[in-house]
Amino acid sequence: MRISRKMEHVHYALELGQSRQQGLSDIKLVHNCLPETSTDHIALTTTIGDLIMSSPILINAMTGGAQETESINRELAIMAREKGMAMAVGSQMSAIKNSEVASSYQVVRRENPNGIVFANLGSEASVEQALRAVDMIEANALQIHLNVMQELIMPEGDRSFVGMLSRIEAIVRHVPVPVIVKEVGFGILRDNAAQLQNIGVRVLDVGGSGGTNFAAIENARRPAAMEWLNDWGTPTSIALLEALSVYDRGSVIASGGITNALEAAKALALGASAVGMAGAFLKVLRSEGVDALHHFADELHQGLILIMTALGKNTIQALGHNPLVIMGETAEWCRARGID
Ligand code: FNR
Repeated sequence: MRISRKMEHVHYALELGQSRQQGLSDIKLVHNCLPETSTDHIALTTTIGDLIMSSPILINAMTGGAQETESINRELAIMAREKGMAMAVGSQMSAIKNSEVASSYQVVRRENPNGIVFANLGSEASVEQALRAVDMIEANALQIHLNVMQELIMPEGDRSFVGMLSRIEAIVRHVPVPVIVKEVGFGILRDNAAQLQNIGVRVLDVGGSGGTNFAAIENARRPAAMEWLNDWGTPTSIALLEALSVYDRGSVIASGGITNALEAAKALALGASAVGMAGAFLKVLRSEGVDALHHFADELHQGLILIMTALGKNTIQALGHNPLVIMGETAEWCRARGID
């Protein structure tokens, strides 16, 4: 049951695609016609919490738990190793409940022994399960995903969300690696960011809407669907600015609907320290194959180097201070909420 659900998620994520209404078209980077730099001077290194990453792009959590998902994880892990990207595995709860499927997650560490790898569980996890997930893949950090709306739309999903915050707090206290709390495409906003900061969560991945849409995916999986919920959630541009009104730069990952170097650069210019991409990597891998996946990763890095050169910003940190103008719905939202 659980295993076929994972392949259904892959199937529908690809079939439905990404709307790219992640709000980043509201962000205008201010062009610099005298940049005083060269492509040779650009460094893509960044830090998230205490983690030093050689690329600001990370392969966000997707899968594991079945044979077919093992081959997806293997190809993504090889690409992560070759291109120096951090990578998260999909939720490991299935392997915690059935150790026979652990190999479909462990392949990520086997293929990339020295890389940065993130474990992943939902907020229903206990401290003991969190420790096992980290141990299973010798993870450098643990992602805890929040996906309340997805669970509610799934007929077989969770119905009670009592105690999420206190379970996350216990995990933060007892797990020996940094904990990253992430949404799966509905966004983390200011008040929740403050709650998470209060319990000691050091890093947020805002996981806004405009990319892979888990309301639409769950609705596509069943006949009597609640399609009227398909627009639920807050676009990534807005979630990012909300999170950054609480969290310091250096602690926020942007994700949700990011598909190319320009969208990544805009998120980094807004103040994210790294950018998570899931659906875009999956699409290239499944529809065009492994060579295209490696080419896509090169294009992302070369595209970022090109944009940073054009702007005269040699580091990701400097890119975060590039002048920009916020327009449209993102600007209106920020005005209404008093976020500058
Ligand atoms: C996901 N995502 C996800 N997230 C998570 O924390 N645990 C998980 O197990 C999964 N599973 C999963 C399966 C598939 C097939 C996809 C495409 C995605 C969510 C993912 O990490 C990310 O938050 C969202 O997909 C939004 O980013 P993109 O896809 O718009 O870049």
